[in-house]
Amino acid sequence: MTDISKQDRVLIFDTTLRDGEQSPGATMSHNEKLEIATLLDEMGVDIIEAGFPIASEGDFKAVSEIAQRSKNSVICGLSRAVYKDIDRCWEAVKHAAQPRIHTFIGTSPQHRAIPDLTKEQMIERIHDTVTHARNLCDNIQWSPMDATRTEDDYLCQTVETAIKAGATTINIPDTVGYTAPRESADIIRMLLERVPGADEIIFATHCHNDLGMATANSLAAVEGGARQIECTINGLGERAGNTALEEVVMALRVRNDIMPYQTRIDTTKIMNLSRRVATVSGFQVQYNKAIVGKNAFAHESGIHQDGMLKSADTFEIMRPEDVGLSETNIVMGKHSGRAALRSKLADLGYELADNQLKDVFVRFKELADRKKEVYDEDLLALVNDEGTNA
Ligand code: KIV
Ligand code: ZN
Repeated sequence: MTDISKQDRVLIFDTTLRDGEQSPGATMSHNEKLEIATLLDEMGVDIIEAGFPIASEGDFKAVSEIAQRSKNSVICGLSRAVYKDIDRCWEAVKHAAQPRIHTFIGTSPQHRAIPDLTKEQMIERIHDTVTHARNLCDNIQWSPMDATRTEDDYLCQTVETAIKAGATTINIPDTVGYTAPRESADIIRMLLERVPGADEIIFATHCHNDLGMATANSLAAVEGGARQIECTINGLGERAGNTALEEVVMALRVRNDIMPYQTRIDTTKIMNLSRRVATVSGFQVQYNKAIVGKNAFAHESGIHQDGMLKSADTFEIMRPEDVGLSETNIVMGKHSGRAALRSKLADLGYELADNQLKDVFVRFKELADRKKEVYDEDLLALVNDEGTNA
């Protein structure tokens, strides 16, 4: 039997349409969900969590239709550890060529108190609900919600129960964004060492970003043996959000020398998806967001612009084309230097003599002190004021 945790392939599980949509105010329409699901499918996402079918009639319809349309991805729906949730979930995902039921229950002391079950009763519930789900579908994911605050022994016991009942993927959620990288890796290692049958199933990592560590924690979990990363486009998700798909995928690509794991994602589709998700969710991406922020490939400082004009790898560790952008954005502002101005004007069709450039540069700096960003039209006005010919 191959030990899955030793393989170099990492599955990407996107939950933009489920955990992402749970962000207050991020609700998407039916057609918007279908559009995002199609883009995720085309991008090479292995598993799409399309919604929570019992939550509403709308969610049920969206999951069913996504399941019918999906071409390549596994389509997954979420359900609590309750028979009627699981049945409803199956009704929605069963249309997919590759359906998956994802069922969960809170296992930490904080969460166990809510259904008011003893530890033993919860073990019984896990056994019964996972068995029920497995009788409907071959592909079952089980999650101990708030796993990272669950006692080690109890976590092992719950995971063992779920595997014996037929779970094929065990997801370890850091529901409240509480873990840190070393611990995130250690939890997966511990489960692989202590739980019988653990090397025959896939461990997933599902991190929230409350302390800004979701990406680091997800990658650490992979080092520990997880082979599925759960994430959302733009890191959309409740509170501080979920692990951002674009961050983990690009980190694995750019630092493949030290993290030798492969994904199936076509990274050139990242930027378009990021923009579509921002538009349909209404959650704009912060300018300095890694990978997809407006400034992620923009340079204003003279030293950086000069370096970039000589060689892109001076200040860029990945190419804009890798994520679907056409080019690096050289932003003209008060920190820009003469070399960048010359290059920008050349792009606009103006080759200036040194004395002309000197004059335009002085006036450009005066303008840049007054304006946050100097646009192409401003540069054209400066050049034309001087009467310079193209
Ligand atoms: O964060 C979480 O625990 C979840 C579960 C439902 C997997 O989203
Ligand atoms: Zn979550």
